[in-house]
Amino acid sequence: MCGIVAYIGAQKAYPIILKGLKRLEYRGYDSSGIALYGEQIETYKRKGRVAELEVWDEKITETATVGIGHTRWATHGEPSDANAHPHTSNNGQLTLVHNGIIENYASLKQELVQKGYTFKSETDTEVLVNFIEEIQKNNDYSLEEAMRVALKRVVGAYVIIVMENGFPNRLIAARKGSPLVIGVGEGEHFLASDASPIIEYTKKVIYVNDYELAIISKDEIILKNLGNEPITPYIQQLDMELAQIEKGGFDHFMLKEIFDQPASLTDCLRGRLDSENQILTLAGIDQHLSIFTEAKRIVIVACGTSWHAGLVAEYMIEALCRIPVEVEYASEFRYRNPVINSGDVIIAISQSGETADTLVALERAKEQGAFIFGVVNAVGSSIARLSHAGAYTHAGPEIGVASTKAFTAQLTVLAMMAIKIGLEKKTLSVSEYKRYLAELALIPDKVKTILGTHQAIKKVAIHYAAARDFLFLGRGYNFPVALEGALKLKEISYIHAEGYPAAEMKHGPIALVDEHLPVLFIATKDAYYEKIVSNIQEIKARKGKVIAVVSADDTLIRSMADHVMEVPEVDELLAPLLSVIPTQLLSYYIGVELGLDVDKPRNLAKSVTVE
Ligand code: F6R
Repeated sequence: MCGIVAYIGAQKAYPIILKGLKRLEYRGYDSSGIALYGEQIETYKRKGRVAELEVWDEKITETATVGIGHTRWATHGEPSDANAHPHTSNNGQLTLVHNGIIENYASLKQELVQKGYTFKSETDTEVLVNFIEEIQKNNDYSLEEAMRVALKRVVGAYVIIVMENGFPNRLIAARKGSPLVIGVGEGEHFLASDASPIIEYTKKVIYVNDYELAIISKDEIILKNLGNEPITPYIQQLDMELAQIEKGGFDHFMLKEIFDQPASLTDCLRGRLDSENQILTLAGIDQHLSIFTEAKRIVIVACGTSWHAGLVAEYMIEALCRIPVEVEYASEFRYRNPVINSGDVIIAISQSGETADTLVALERAKEQGAFIFGVVNAVGSSIARLSHAGAYTHAGPEIGVASTKAFTAQLTVLAMMAIKIGLEKKTLSVSEYKRYLAELALIPDKVKTILGTHQAIKKVAIHYAAARDFLFLGRGYNFPVALEGALKLKEISYIHAEGYPAAEMKHGPIALVDEHLPVLFIATKDAYYEKIVSNIQEIKARKGKVIAVVSADDTLIRSMADHVMEVPEVDELLAPLLSVIPTQLLSYYIGVELGLDVDKPRNLAKSVTVE
């Protein structure tokens, strides 16, 4: 949460930072600000979207070649001009942007107040900048020395970038627990929360690690640890194109990303699935096959949509590999002292690779000796680096706050893992293995077919856009899809929605059913088909409105439902990859019909880097 950008070089800093903040707006968008170094440091910050910063028309925006910027997702203090970053210290010398949370800010603030410090905001960040000032003043330290001392006393997560009056050609950044990428240019450098603000200017990047400090001028990058020991920067080449992070003619990133799925799934399968020769190669698994085949238990740790992918994986892995699987919310797992035995494998699922709860849960499990396997989208992210092994989902950058293409890529990787391990364990026969590979190869085209029905789904969306509540029901592999469909609708349309296993309906939720309640059944042809037909009848008998996601050749449910959305036939294990697509489109079109900002729903942020 929160996005930060900085520039130092020979170009005008303001437009670079402004554009970079817009690219990072998915990380938070309740207020934003920029500080530039001209004669001295000047700051402009506003409540609201980054676009509010466009009206800053001081001369400095035309001349400054150094600056820092921030787009905020509020933690301490409501969205307001005062709480927006950058924050400046009491003596006016230091100006700082921060992503993360300083957990011991209250005690540090008390110390500072006793020493006469005053505060203009309610933020933990303003405490931090003054804490650094205090250490610097008291000890006659350089900024770098003061930051090292201050950060050793800080509890929590941070990326900070600091500018100091009197030092126009220098930025100092530090990281613990939140992401920071340095873009390496010719006579210029960029800093950002992820590579999207940088990609336009350079593909050479350095991922800064926890407890590292970066001292950056336009010609030099010095990396050190908090013990003042130098670290050799490892420069990597970004494998990302600018087009991937732009809307490409679509009205919203969410729609673009839904329509990206045939391509993103092809990318996910590329180099892994050789359907002609019926070979599946998954390097991260191949190198550690025995760990998986001998695993006593697999624990999947994730949040939100990624947790839903984990639920599908539980069904897949138990069915094909006969290994017991538990799926845990990372936020619960990290605090509840879970039992981790040798022989346990932890699979972490994360689009961003930066979700704070997932990251800390993994750190704890790793300390206890668990083998960590990451299913991550963002290459080089914290979770990817913390994992012992992993498989990237290769969905490409996901900018829309609601996850779509990352979810289907996660499902694809998890299916490939289950198929691979099952074959190796001999719990999956060779003929079944080959059948699954053949089915997997057809998925991108089948997704394309569903996308071709978007106009029909739009009509369903318009029909139900005024609903106050929604129920999503599914069974078996489609149960997690019901949860995911409900989550997507809540996020994008602010309509209250709940997902349940269809059979659970009779244990409570059925009390909600009346002629005003749309009930969306994920009802593709599978082992539970007849049971779900009965559940549909139970809803119809109570005058509920039934929308159903059905297999293309279905006639029975079609005759019962008020509206249907069709998907091609597929084996039930892979059904979620298809059945989720109509629910994504439905949420999108309802959100648009209601006039909402589907790419940036209220109160949300793409990357939840605070707990
Ligand atoms: C929902 C959504 C969130 C994320 C969750 C985990 O559309 O995007 O629920 O799935 O915050 O994020 P990652 O996968 O980045 O760990």
